[in-house]
Amino acid sequence: MTSMKKYRPFVLGINGSPHSMGITAKLLDLVLGGAKRAGAETRRVDLYKLRITHEPGLYSISSRLEVPKRMPRDDIRDLYKDIIRAGGLVLATPNYWANMSGIMKDFIDHLTALENKNFALEGKVGVFIAASKENEGGLEMAATSMAMALAQMGVLIPPNGIMWHPGDWETIKGKVKNWALHDAPICGQKMTELIKLLKEHPILWNEGTTGLLRKRRKRSIN
Ligand SMILES: Cc1cc2nc3c(=O)[nH]c(=O)nc-3n(C[C@H](O)[C@H](O)[C@H](O)COP(=O)(O)O)c2cc1C
Repeated sequence: MTSMKKYRPFVLGINGSPHSMGITAKLLDLVLGGAKRAGAETRRVDLYKLRITHEPGLYSISSRLEVPKRMPRDDIRDLYKDIIRAGGLVLATPNYWANMSGIMKDFIDHLTALENKNFALEGKVGVFIAASKENEGGLEMAATSMAMALAQMGVLIPPNGIMWHPGDWETIKGKVKNWALHDAPICGQKMTELIKLLKEHPILWNEGTTGLLRKRRKRSIN
């Protein structure tokens, strides 16, 4: 019980925008701020400041090859330790042609090596943000593209954990403007509470599923 009190969730924020003070970064900071206020340690990484190679496609030769130690020596490889340590991941992208930025896609592709490292992302909590100042369409697609990939890797998405800006909507009481700006800090706080809860009550996500069968198969191969 005493050790639980000391547990401090770690939330890692990933900025896929070239602008370190743009709207994407602003929303990301709001989520991280909420997480911090709820007791989390946070770190923001600006992907554009890193040296990132394109996905090498080792998986397509053999799934056993796409593991962290065989990935190209770039800055994402150095980031794997923090990604594994994180209880929560916040991925924020500008909306580029109705999808995530190219560098965010490279980041997500690099996560394949962690999927192959015994499904290392399973049970982490994820929040996904897409932003555009211009609002020229495609925001939902950008946000859900990221969320879908990480959901498949086993990441859990809390309520309002997929958000886009701007996202005005009408109710009978009037217009709700920029709901993501309002919800982002709350989402950071709630994701931190969820990470703490999951730490207290760990779940064996793969028990009885094909995921576990895959793990067993892997073990029998090795
Ligand atoms: C290559 C490129 C493609 C873009 N495509 C879209 C788009 O499809 N829909 C849209 O609403 N905005 C689009 N935009 C506008 C950006 O999403 C917008 O400028 C955003 O605010 C940039 O985020 P930042 O301030 O965090 O850099 C595009 C911008 C660029 C540079």
